[in-house]
Amino acid sequence: MNIQHILSEKIKQAMIAAGAEQNVEALVRQSGKPQFGDYQANGIMGAAKKLGCNPREFAQKVLDNLNLEGIVEKLEIAGPGFINIFLSGEWLANNAEQALNSEKLGIQLSQTQTVVVDYSSPNVAKEMHVGHLRSTIIGDGVVRALEFLGNNVIRANHVGDWGTQFGMLIAYLEKMENEHASEMELSDLEAFYRAAKEHYDSDAEFAEKARNYVVKLQSGDEYCHTMWQKLVKITMVQNQHNYQRLNVTLTENDVMGESLYNPMLPAIVADLQAQGLAVEDEGALVVYLDEFKNKDGDPMGVIVQKKDGGFLYTTTDIAAAKYRYETLKADRALVFSDTRQSQHMQQAWLITRKAGYVPDSFSLEHHNFGMMLGKDGKPFKTRTGGTVKLADLLDEAVERAEKLIAEKNPNLTACEKQAVVEAVAIGAVKYSDLSKNRTTDYVFDWDNMLSFEGNTAPYMQYAYTRIRSIFSKAGINPTQLSGNILLNEEKERTLALKLLQFEESVTTVAKEGTPHVLCQYLYELAGIFSSFYEACPILNAEESIKQSRLKLASLTADTLKQGLDLLGIKTVEKM
Ligand code: ARG
Repeated sequence: MNIQHILSEKIKQAMIAAGAEQNVEALVRQSGKPQFGDYQANGIMGAAKKLGCNPREFAQKVLDNLNLEGIVEKLEIAGPGFINIFLSGEWLANNAEQALNSEKLGIQLSQTQTVVVDYSSPNVAKEMHVGHLRSTIIGDGVVRALEFLGNNVIRANHVGDWGTQFGMLIAYLEKMENEHASEMELSDLEAFYRAAKEHYDSDAEFAEKARNYVVKLQSGDEYCHTMWQKLVKITMVQNQHNYQRLNVTLTENDVMGESLYNPMLPAIVADLQAQGLAVEDEGALVVYLDEFKNKDGDPMGVIVQKKDGGFLYTTTDIAAAKYRYETLKADRALVFSDTRQSQHMQQAWLITRKAGYVPDSFSLEHHNFGMMLGKDGKPFKTRTGGTVKLADLLDEAVERAEKLIAEKNPNLTACEKQAVVEAVAIGAVKYSDLSKNRTTDYVFDWDNMLSFEGNTAPYMQYAYTRIRSIFSKAGINPTQLSGNILLNEEKERTLALKLLQFEESVTTVAKEGTPHVLCQYLYELAGIFSSFYEACPILNAEESIKQSRLKLASLTADTLKQGLDLLGIKTVEKM
């Protein structure tokens, strides 16, 4: 359930009945302090100002038109015209009960949009590096949240699988095949790309062949096409392996690379020119945008077709936006890529809108993220200054988690240990990224992310197992609890309210593309559970209270597990 949504709707209706416009916003928020109630409506003052009436008087009028019977215990007008909302304990208890009995923790499937999520998007014949890590795991967290809320999600792995570099790559693949290179040599994509480039730069005959292959590939030559396909395949098999290790939901079927849009580009550029948006400039076709200024303060030119006829990254993104609206029939399209691509995305989409390819109602969203930094505050690199390969990073995570778990719990069986190590290692890497506001750079720090204290994966995973062990130690089956949830103690009530705010945090993740909001929620939930557990004995309590507290504990465990699952982080029953 989404308490904020329920209250917003009811108060909005009361505001309209009290004279406000149809599009008025109640601005209901969770209160920061208990004395201001559980929620506050902050929209009264703004609405009153528009109506030209006294805010406190308007607030009273809203209350006169508001029926929250059974939901609230008390409503108060506070300060210049806020409404403080105190929820009914009985209502909270009933809803907690419902959440416990529902498969999806009481979530209402209210959002059923079609949403394209463009994420991960590595480049062919290049190994995925840590830069793609952020896109992959943040994007996947948002995808899971969107699906959980009932949206139809289309994953679009916008793989960099097209461009002039393919001539050189095909020529080099051919050379290797002729020399009977082993699979092994091909598995090191980074080395493959480097060697191809070296040949291209130093061997004139090779370079000539490479240029020839580019032209052939673009004109649909079968041999070049097959060779190109091989390169895509080799790369994606390796990437798929990374996705699996990372517990990321992308599959081979989600690849919608740049090449998909290539056949659409000539018509788009011709249309941009026909509309007078693209103009010729020194042989190239350029769209001048008033909204962006170059360093001389003049409208910035965005090239959509080069002098030699080649298209650009921007042209492809114009086509992708159009395709996602027109063909995929999406309501929203989200792109997860690095902040350095922000201007590029905004320009591509501005051109898309100017050309009338998508309506205003179609939402194009760049969910940008900052860089991953080393402890020295500089871009994350290997000790020798190279880019860190994702696979190596994950290997190191497993190694470190192995040591940690061996110290922490030497009594696990080999099988249990393996599951815990995997969950903690991958979870730690993912959670340390997901828990930070994506727009800022963040420092990658092994010690922090593997700590059992603070807002980390091991802490959250451990919090989950501790609750589960209450049940296993006492031999109680959490699906066979009886009686009603009772919220007599303050700590019980606080916990129930927090549990019922789960959907609000998931909704924010889906709307804003910010998984850290869910991490923060889960971290706070774990903290609130701890203080409940300290203050309210469970197993020694009188039977009806014991059952009620066990129910709250069980719902907490379910919520933690479900929340971590939405972040793509595994839980274990014992660690
Ligand atoms: N392949 C790009 C890169 O590695 C990211 C693509 C992001 N998506 C997009 N539609 N431009 O930087």
